[in-house]
Amino acid sequence: LETKKRLPVIWLHFQECTCCSESFIRSSHPMVADLLLDQISLDYSETLMAASGFQAEEAMKHTMEKHKGEYILCVEGSVPTAADGVYCMIGGKTSLQILEEAAENAKAIIAWGSCASNGCVQAAKPNPTSATPIHKLVKGKPVIKVPGCPPIGEVMAGVIVHVVTFDRLPELDNIGRPKAFYSKRVHDTCYRRPFYDAGLYVESFDDQNAKKGYCLYKVGCKGPSTYNACGVMRWNNGVSFPIQSGHGCFGCSEENYWDNGRLYERA
Ligand code: SF4
Ligand code: SF4
Ligand code: F3S
Repeated sequence: LETKKRLPVIWLHFQECTCCSESFIRSSHPMVADLLLDQISLDYSETLMAASGFQAEEAMKHTMEKHKGEYILCVEGSVPTAADGVYCMIGGKTSLQILEEAAENAKAIIAWGSCASNGCVQAAKPNPTSATPIHKLVKGKPVIKVPGCPPIGEVMAGVIVHVVTFDRLPELDNIGRPKAFYSKRVHDTCYRRPFYDAGLYVESFDDQNAKKGYCLYKVGCKGPSTYNACGVMRWNNGVSFPIQSGHGCFGCSEENYWDNGRLYERA
């Protein structure tokens, strides 16, 4: 790794809340600073770059021309296609124009979070901007989906490290998610699972069973239908995850979870 050229990366932001970036910068293994300073060259990122305006646009153009077929394009957010894309424009261009230009010579695309992977909250009914996930707009390029709202920082960093280390994409499942992080349900690795198996459930958030840490299935936990690594990787340097904090899994890494979920009810 020490002798490898740093991997050029362009990171775009469209319709999103920037918490995917917030999650990424908290990765502790690997440390995000090591990644940013030693392994990749983050040539364009509206959140993390010092440059702005024309200088920033120039940096992106330079990477697209100088590193054709070499750079990784990361996309945070969905692309609005309604009303000719006017709902999200940067530097006079629509998100779709920017995406198509940047994708043309990218080696691969990483769709960060549920916004870029499946549309997330902007695509919830009635989806007024026609928010569209990246894989539906980009043709002929591999798209790695890293869903979650946001994804776990170490998962995001892990995907990049895999590409840097092995010079190839991680193994993906049938809908484009890295198998290493999305092949198990939250339910499969949940420490409350013995309570589920024993039929011991929280009936309401203020009951004695909640205090005892019983299973949250009856108060809406979507862990049985959600593929993510939260039970293993956990959040905030492995400290906790929603279920450990007493809240059921929302299913934030699953498609259409805002519409399908009825967040506090059993589907
Ligand atoms: Fe924010 Fe969630 Fe979208 Fe990430 S997936 S940008 S956390 S709304
Ligand atoms: Fe499954 Fe949720 Fe119960 Fe954990 S809390 S065992 S994920 S239903
Ligand atoms: Fe999301 Fe469920 Fe994990 S809500 S953060 S997938 S526990």
